Amino acid sequence: MTGLGKDLVGLEPLSAEQIRLILDTAEPFKEVSERAIKKVPALRGKTIVNLFFEASTRTRISFEFAEKRLSADSVNVAASGSSVSKGETLVDTAKNLEAMRIDMVVIRHGASGAAQFLGQRIASNVINAGDGKHEHPTQALLDLLTLRDRFGRIEGLKIAICGDVLHSRVARSNIWGLTKLGAQVAVCGPATLMPRDIESLGVTVIPRIEDAIAWADALNVLRLQLERMTAGFIPSLREYNRVFGVTSERLARAPKELLILHPGPMNRGVEIDSDVADGPHAVILPQVTNGVAVRMAVLYLLAGGAPGPGQAMGGEER
Ligand code: CP
Repeated sequence: MTGLGKDLVGLEPLSAEQIRLILDTAEPFKEVSERAIKKVPALRGKTIVNLFFEASTRTRISFEFAEKRLSADSVNVAASGSSVSKGETLVDTAKNLEAMRIDMVVIRHGASGAAQFLGQRIASNVINAGDGKHEHPTQALLDLLTLRDRFGRIEGLKIAICGDVLHSRVARSNIWGLTKLGAQVAVCGPATLMPRDIESLGVTVIPRIEDAIAWADALNVLRLQLERMTAGFIPSLREYNRVFGVTSERLARAPKELLILHPGPMNRGVEIDSDVADGPHAVILPQVTNGVAVRMAVLYLLAGGAPGPGQAMGGEER
């Protein structure tokens, strides 16, 4: 199957071919953001609702930029200030939006499965912008694109995903995407923050951060999701940094230079030190730049755009 189907709820249901299609479609869209007039007509006439029930900076804003750069009409709905705060259900909210003749919904929600649940109940395309601890597919796609930019390939790379794997939808989507494209994946973090069944996803557990650094070509450093921690998962932030922090001292002992990714937002001085985050091997801001191109690709393909968006790229909007 070469298209993406109706919705993008995760990378688990996608084939390697479909993931490559998104990455390849993102390539020409990178250039649009470098133009003086950052607009192409690809989604002119399409109406998109960004429905964010959880906080977001990078994902929400880059979806908005992607929509505007494709000439779509978009509106933003936050839970606070909408009738969700009066108790309206997710499906009722979406059906009311559909009654206004929308084409797509981008949804971030605290409940795992929310995007799939919605996609099965409305006719519009649904894109998962992060659902609970389940998946964050566009984050993993932009991570894959950034790795491919730097290494020229994904197949055969050794990627260590480090930190709070338990609460991480970014980790799950990365594991699906990386393994489908032929990378070797390891996870590293405290046992209290490691899902019990994680090896069943085809990854290796490396308990010590020093060993993960020695093994990997790149580290994807996860945010410690303190807001999702209901129990004492770690003794203290200081202790976490001492045992699992990605520091320049630890990286200096690695046999080779590693690429450093982080999905953001970062807890500086906790999972990653500032000199690493701001250092020469970090690609944290290029990840954000790639986020716009990847989201343009996803929107374009779900709207029925043909692979290789040559015609859609044809003219700048005036
Ligand atoms: N990486 C990511 O999802 O960041 P935001 O929460 O700011 O969207």
